[in-house]
Amino acid sequence: MSGESSLPCHVAIIMDGNGRWARQRGLSRLEGHRAGAKNVRRVVNAFADHGVKYLTLFAFSTENWSRPQKEVEGLLGLLSESIDKETQFFHRANIKLRHVGEVDRLPLELQRKVKAAIELTKDNTGMILCLAFDYGSRSEIVDAVRCIKEGNVSTGDINEAMFSGYLGTQGIPDPDLVIRTGGEMRLSNFLLWQAAYSELYFTPVLWPDFSEKEIDKALLDYRQRQRRFGSL
Ligand code: FPP
Repeated sequence: MSGESSLPCHVAIIMDGNGRWARQRGLSRLEGHRAGAKNVRRVVNAFADHGVKYLTLFAFSTENWSRPQKEVEGLLGLLSESIDKETQFFHRANIKLRHVGEVDRLPLELQRKVKAAIELTKDNTGMILCLAFDYGSRSEIVDAVRCIKEGNVSTGDINEAMFSGYLGTQGIPDPDLVIRTGGEMRLSNFLLWQAAYSELYFTPVLWPDFSEKEIDKALLDYRQRQRRFGSL
């Protein structure tokens, strides 16, 4: 597999910059997250219209628990509200929802909503929208190792393909393109295993402002990359 790439099959996004977007407007951080949550529908629509098959959004990291309690509660509340508001829209758009990350540390009501949304959309055949919350890549990898050990898998049977099957993203192809908004240039414990050969796209645009036009720019940039997967 090499040469010019056309459309990425899987796009994964680190949605960063809500806090700064709010500060620039004299609003609270939570209002920034609210604007960010509102932008999710626009971005999901745009990627679905482009024909992208998998979209993964990093909504809440394992490290986000260490933010001030009020912000954590606000973010979890917003996730819960977004699931209420968006699930029917996703369902009508034939989108199938998935979740990666821990589920049992989330408030019970949120756990229930996530499971119900996944169940409702499980037979949809359009885009697969994977919500990463309470997600951290290192702990996902450590969990996979634990599972393999507990399953008494023999050393000779351990290989990259089987290991991928023990990750939360099991069955989802590796991302072709990882986008980070908000100007920072790091992966922040997001899909470290899966992004081994991903093209990375960093934009200073803050997440609430990440529009269809910005998506077109990112996809155009991706088309100009030469993907070699380590070969010449
Ligand atoms: C980073 O901005 C963003 C987050 C920690 C949360 C992202 C969550 C949403 C956009 C809501 C998602 C909703 C759904 C339905 C998936 P930041 O606070 O780090 O911004 P800053 O770097 O400017 O402070």
